[in-house]
Amino acid sequence: MAYFDRVVSATKPPLVAALLLTIGGAAFAQDHDAAQVDAGRQLFEENAGGTGCAACHGDAAEGNPDAGAPFIQGSSRARLNAALAGAVPAMEYFDLNRRETDAIYEFLQYMGHVQDEPLDEDTAAGKVIFEETAGGVGCQSCHGADGSGDSAPDIRGQDARAILEQLRRNENMSFITLSSGEVDQVAAYLDYLHKLDSH
Ligand code: HEC
Ligand code: HEC
Repeated sequence: MAYFDRVVSATKPPLVAALLLTIGGAAFAQDHDAAQVDAGRQLFEENAGGTGCAACHGDAAEGNPDAGAPFIQGSSRARLNAALAGAVPAMEYFDLNRRETDAIYEFLQYMGHVQDEPLDEDTAAGKVIFEETAGGVGCQSCHGADGSGDSAPDIRGQDARAILEQLRRNENMSFITLSSGEVDQVAAYLDYLHKLDSH
């Protein structure tokens, strides 16, 4: 099914969650009922049916090929209802009431919109470093425009610690000097690229 083309193999729930908070924060209050999204998130991550949905679909609803569970961010009401009404055998044990289903639906819509949000300040600054300024060439000159690798490996989702380690030890990158604040900004952007890849 087409969904499988869009899911990623590895997910990092805490990173993704932190990113969603920063990227989604601004529009969150305006477009979504925060309390309902929160309730939906809790059901999705843990409580629904005693297992939550994330166990199979991933914390960000990004899908999990190992569980055969598709990407469902922004899922339509009809698909959600059908899946919960017995169309998906693996999900037959769920018996959610209307209120719970509504909350999960809101959470899925919220997750679907996160990507449309403008980048927060740190992530935007990290993008400039990644694309242009690091060492005068940008990280992208070796790691590829979307960080998925070129002459150097895929670094999407790498954290500040991993970057610092490379800046210290990797001779290929020794001409690059970044402050610790800039390292954090690049890390925020690498998280963002990782998140984009989940679609
Ligand atoms: C035990 C694993 C598992 C759990 C837990 C689970 N799902 Fe699923 N879900 C699946 C699988 C597998 C499919 C795909 C079935 C298929 O393609 O035939 C699926 C499909 C779906 C679909 C349909 C996607 C589409 O495009 O039609 C939706 C919506 C969905 N799940 C929502 C949820 C929600 C909401 C929860 C929590 C209340 C949940 N799932 C919990 C395994 C799971
Ligand atoms: C001149 C080319 C070049 C540039 C520019 C560059 N890197 Fe690298 N980087 C490499 C190479 C080559 C490796 C692989 C080294 C190895 O495995 O021995 C690497 C490895 C890494 C790794 C470790 C990846 C892994 O899987 O272990 C991280 C993280 C990393 N780079 C981050 C960055 C960041 C962030 C920037 C920009 C601030 C950057 N790099 C800029 C060449 C580059």
